[in-house]
Amino acid sequence: MMRIIPLIFLTFLLFQVQALAIMGPQGVSKTAHNLSTEDGGTLDYYISDNEDEICIFCHTPHGGSLDGPLWNRSSPGNSTFTHYSTTTLDSIGAGASRVLSDESLICMSCHDGAMAINHVLNPSNRTGTQPTVNGSTDQQIVTIPGAIGGVIGKSLADETSSTDLTDDHPISFSYDDVLAYYTSAGRGIQLHDVTTAVGSGVRFYGSGNRVECGSCHDPHVNYDSGIPDGNDPTADEAYRPFLITPNDGSKLCLACHNK
Ligand code: HEC
Ligand code: HEC
Ligand code: HEC
Ligand code: HEC
Repeated sequence: MMRIIPLIFLTFLLFQVQALAIMGPQGVSKTAHNLSTEDGGTLDYYISDNEDEICIFCHTPHGGSLDGPLWNRSSPGNSTFTHYSTTTLDSIGAGASRVLSDESLICMSCHDGAMAINHVLNPSNRTGTQPTVNGSTDQQIVTIPGAIGGVIGKSLADETSSTDLTDDHPISFSYDDVLAYYTSAGRGIQLHDVTTAVGSGVRFYGSGNRVECGSCHDPHVNYDSGIPDGNDPTADEAYRPFLITPNDGSKLCLACHNK
C-alpha cells in the first residue's frame, strides 16, 4: 500500500504536467521583436542603428509603466478602440467599444501604427547620457525612421486609423461569459472548455479568463525570422509569427473553437 500511494501520486503528477501547455522555444533575439543593432544588420525589420540592448524596447529594470511586466513604453489610451462586432457576437459584454485590457494595450503601443517605436520611458544608462527623467516621459532612444509593418490598428475601411480593431479577432472579453452564453443558447458544443483550450496551448488572462493578444501570441518565441542567420537549430518555424502554439491544420483556432 505504501508503495502504491506514491505511484498513484506520481502518475497524477505526470498527467498534470502533460495537461499543462508547452510553450515554444524562447529567443526573442532571433525574431522581428529584436529591434536592436544586435540583429546582425539585417534590414528586414524595424531596426535600431545605435541601441544594442534587446529587451529595452519593451522592458526596463526600473521606472517602468505598470501596464505590463516592467514595461518600458507608454500606452495609447485604452478606451478609444473599436472592436470586432457582429450580431452573433452580442454575447461579448460591454459591446464594441469596451475598454482594451492592458495585456493587449501594451502590444498596441507598437502595433497601433501611431505610437513611436523608438521611444521608451527609461533609456539605457550605458549609452553615455544619464537620463534626467525616470519612468515619466517618453524619450527617443534611437533614430530609426519608417513605419512598422504589422499594423493592427487600421482597417481597409479606415487606413488612417490607429484604433480600429473591427477587422481583427475579438479580444479583451471574458471567455467564460461567452461559453456560458453559448451553453444557455444550446450551442455550448461550439467552444471547448477553458481546461481543454489551455491543454491545447492557448492562454487566458485574469478573472473570467479573458482573451487577449497573448492568448494566441508569445512575443518571445523563437521562430528564427532570419536574424542574424536564419539557421538556428533551436528555433521552430511552426511558431511564426509569434504564435503561442503552432497553427498547422488550424490547431491554434481549434484549441478554442470546436468546428
Ligand atoms: C517587443 C517587445 C518585447 C521584447 C523585445 C521583450 N519582451 Fe518580454 N514581454 C513582452 C510582453 C508583451 C510580455 C507580456 C507577455 C504576456 O502577455 O504574457 C513580456 C513578458 C516578459 C516577462 C514576464 C512574463 C513572461 O512571459 O515570463 C519576462 C520575464 C520578460 N518578458 C523578459 C524579457 C527579456 C529578458 C527580454 C530581452 C531578452 C524581453 N522580455 C524582450 C514583450 C517583449
Ligand atoms: C517595441 C514595439 C513592439 C511591441 C511592444 C510589440 N511588437 Fe510585435 N512587432 C514589432 C515590430 C517592429 C515588428 C516587425 C514589423 C515589420 O515587419 O515591420 C513586429 C512584428 C510582430 C508580428 C509579426 C512577426 C512576423 O514575423 O511577421 C507579430 C505577430 C507581433 N509583432 C505580435 C506582437 C504581440 C502579440 C505583441 C504583444 C504581446 C507585440 N507584438 C508587441 C514591434 C513590437
Ligand atoms: C485568436 C487568435 C489571435 C489573437 C487574439 C491575436 N492574433 Fe495576431 N495573429 C494570429 C494568427 C494565427 C496570425 C498569423 C496569421 C497568418 O499567418 O495568416 C496572426 C498574425 C499577426 C500579425 C502579423 C500580421 C498579420 O496581419 O498577419 C501581427 C502583427 C499580429 N498578429 C498582432 C496581434 C496583436 C497586436 C494582437 C492583439 C491586439 C493579436 N495579434 C491578437 C492570431 C491572433
Ligand atoms: C483563445 C480562444 C480562441 C482562439 C485561439 C481563437 N478563437 Fe475565435 N473566438 C473565440 C471566442 C470566445 C469568440 C467569440 C465568439 C462569440 O462571442 O460569438 C471568437 C470569435 C471568432 C469569430 C467570430 C464569430 C462571429 O460570430 O462573428 C471567428 C470567425 C473566429 N473566432 C475564428 C477564429 C480563427 C480562424 C482562429 C484561429 C486563427 C480563432 N478564432 C482562434 C475564441 C478563440
